[in-house]
Amino acid sequence: TGPVEFHGEHQAGIITPVQDRLHFAAFDVTTTKRAELVSLLKEWSAAAALLTAGRDIGQYGAVNGPGEAPPEDTGEAVGLPPARLTLTIGFGPSLFDKRFGLASKRPQALVDLPHFIADDLDPNRSGGDIAVQACSDDPQVAVHAIRNLARIGFGRVAVRYSQLGFGRTASTSRAQTTPRNLFGFKDGTNNLKLEDTAKLEQQLWVQPDDGPDWMVGGSYLVSRRIRMNIEIWDRTSLGEQESIIGRGKGTGAPLGKADEFDAIDFEAKNSDGDLKVAKEAHIRLAHPSFNNGAELLRRGYNFVDGSDGLGRLDAGLFFLAYQRDPRKQFIPVQNQLARSDVLNEYIVHVGSGIFACPGGVTAGSYWGEKLF
Ligand code: HEM
Repeated sequence: TGPVEFHGEHQAGIITPVQDRLHFAAFDVTTTKRAELVSLLKEWSAAAALLTAGRDIGQYGAVNGPGEAPPEDTGEAVGLPPARLTLTIGFGPSLFDKRFGLASKRPQALVDLPHFIADDLDPNRSGGDIAVQACSDDPQVAVHAIRNLARIGFGRVAVRYSQLGFGRTASTSRAQTTPRNLFGFKDGTNNLKLEDTAKLEQQLWVQPDDGPDWMVGGSYLVSRRIRMNIEIWDRTSLGEQESIIGRGKGTGAPLGKADEFDAIDFEAKNSDGDLKVAKEAHIRLAHPSFNNGAELLRRGYNFVDGSDGLGRLDAGLFFLAYQRDPRKQFIPVQNQLARSDVLNEYIVHVGSGIFACPGGVTAGSYWGEKLF
């Protein structure tokens, strides 16, 4: 329930042990003035430091201000603990267009994502100039944070879309148990974890030689709203479900193995000569040994946004993955999954974003200071 430090070498909310709840918001910048964008980022950073410490924002907070003015803080988090709130910012490709003179600062790794086979993207749930990921163990704390940032941004940014997530689908620390996604499988077993320090430098954090300078210590976030056709999945046999993923549903162990964290044996065969982990199983196609060593730090959430009017739940996975270079990581992995993954029969990608998340904020500095 305690606070997570906002300042540091890296932004919080990336390797921070994944919290239970998400409120993710993508913003369009509506002002055309660079100075207004900079002052917004300063105000947001000051507010983020207070919010993540579990404090009201502004000088007077929610209830101590003058009776004649709207309160500075909207108040619904009064009395709630910080609940490990983290706020993580990222800048989308569209921020680097002509409006703010940032075109020459656009990182080469911040590519526009290509169209992947079977993508069915809704433009109203895709893109965004700026993304803020709020994660907390308390849903109201996460919602309060985004609401107050949006309120501060009035006249300078507008919410383009936002997504609530109610349950984590990954762990980012070996101290956490592995949660389950809405297909009922343990998710996050073979994820990058904060204890893998050497690997994090290789796979997660932008290094000095990668450039640009303002991204060193940062990471690239790919977000995908993935609708899961859970009603169809629920009519699929247990054996079929397990062979699609490549793991046992109960234990989470790779097929042919006993324990969740046992290494996957991609060569093992059943007595009838078939591979235990099928050729097109999700964990084979996504595994680093079939992707030039590429790994991701996955940090996604389950969502159910009511129903779709056709008697089906609008449910799925809000996939969030951080990495050092999406050209070498998310894009090739997703290309391979989009081509061959048997899971595709049960999922469809309906929203998408890519964001450059700068290094951490030091006290007295603000989000993205080195970019301006
Ligand atoms: C592993 C489910 C989408 C990349 C897994 C596992 C499950 C799972 C159950 C095994 C547990 C684990 O090691 O975490 C799903 C579902 C998806 C989905 C239900 C869609 C709704 C994606 C996407 C990507 C991805 C879009 C990346 C483009 C991975 C990776 C692994 C993995 C890298 C670890 C493979 C390994 O090294 O063993 N996923 N996944 N997944 N998934 Fe997914």
